[in-house]
Amino acid sequence: MPQLTSRERFLAALQSALADHQLVKLTLGKYRGPDASLKNLSVRPIELKSGPHLSFVWRHTTRDLTKNVAPARAYAELEKLIGDPFRDAHLFTVGQTGQIETAEDGSARVRFKAAAAASPPAPATHDRTKPRLIDPHAGWLHALAITDAAGQPRTGQSAKFRQIQKFAEILQSLLAETSPAAAPLRIADMGSGKGYLTCATAALLGDRAQVTGIERRKELVDTCNRVAAEHHLTGLTFKVGDIAQTAPRLGDLDVLIALHACDTATDDALLAGIRAGATTLVVAPCCQQELRPQLQAPSVLAPALRHGIFQERHAEFVTDALRALLLEAVGFETKVFEFVSTEHTAKNLMLVAQRAKPDQTPQLNPAAVANLRAFARFYGIKQQTLARHLQIDLAAD
Ligand SMILES: C[S@@+](CC[C@H](N)C(=O)[O-])C[C@H]1O[C@@H](n2cnc3c(N)ncnc32)[C@H](O)[C@@H]1O
Repeated sequence: MPQLTSRERFLAALQSALADHQLVKLTLGKYRGPDASLKNLSVRPIELKSGPHLSFVWRHTTRDLTKNVAPARAYAELEKLIGDPFRDAHLFTVGQTGQIETAEDGSARVRFKAAAAASPPAPATHDRTKPRLIDPHAGWLHALAITDAAGQPRTGQSAKFRQIQKFAEILQSLLAETSPAAAPLRIADMGSGKGYLTCATAALLGDRAQVTGIERRKELVDTCNRVAAEHHLTGLTFKVGDIAQTAPRLGDLDVLIALHACDTATDDALLAGIRAGATTLVVAPCCQQELRPQLQAPSVLAPALRHGIFQERHAEFVTDALRALLLEAVGFETKVFEFVSTEHTAKNLMLVAQRAKPDQTPQLNPAAVANLRAFARFYGIKQQTLARHLQIDLAAD
């Protein structure tokens, strides 16, 4: 019987790990393909409502793309990637770890090592009970009518409760990337509304953070200030104000948050954060109306865009993609992802921008400006609020 090649041995180990539900993780590295921004691919089992899947996370220089793949298709996809264009692969299963390294001439070396005894991996699941960052019994959650006295979400508030927990997880992980553990933080939440996420931010960070909610509706600000005082959320204050008129000074802010600030209020909030020197901007845009009258799609899309819902999603995509490109042009790295499942809210896109070189004065990146102008031109966009704020003329050649 012919001896298996190194690649065939590695693939056989992967195939049986998938078939026997023994896969813990697979990472593919040393990418040598055409996509200059692609770094690596990480694959893990995940349990979705529709059954077990493999979560493929494609890590690019400035963003991650996640795709959940059915087990039946996963092996065929991975087989095409291992060796070429990904030269290295690390396999972690319940029983062993394996590594394959492929040289430029296509020759490969594979090594396997027994793993320490462990029980089969519990797949990541959206339903598994997780430790919660925000205590469901917290008095402020009760006061804001999210949970009841037993710490259970009130009727109709489960989605909001999950959104609060998810937001806390995201914020914690973003701050871990940018700020030393105990460093003090100044945070503004613009368009803070009923204050759920602002209170969650203050509760998550405790004494470490000064958190200010800015909201134009005075009655909401009064309620939120009362809740913050009664429940000892120190460092948290709410102020009546219009986002466009808030002018924090340079050096005043570390983190800018604006979740569901309608239409161009998101752009105004981004500008306030940039001007104040924030290193992390977290926005969840909504009601993207501004570009709709200008938007010209290629004629091939016209039959599809006669449906209102596609027009709406198209406008959302163009608006938020342009925002991400503008932020990259002024020195931020961006990530765009769904921050809660669409079954919780349709307004679930989160755009995070982190200053790539916080210690340096931001410089306009001419190549990025050229890219975003080409993007704007393609869609017939001549003006957009964030571009105007940043003094980037979209219509210039
Ligand atoms: C949809 S709510 C979102 C509240 C909160 N950020 C959240 O996600 O749960 C939007 C809030 O932003 C406020 N808002 C919108 N535009 C604003 C502006 N220009 N200045 C201040 N507040 C604004 C509204 O009054 C409203 O309370």
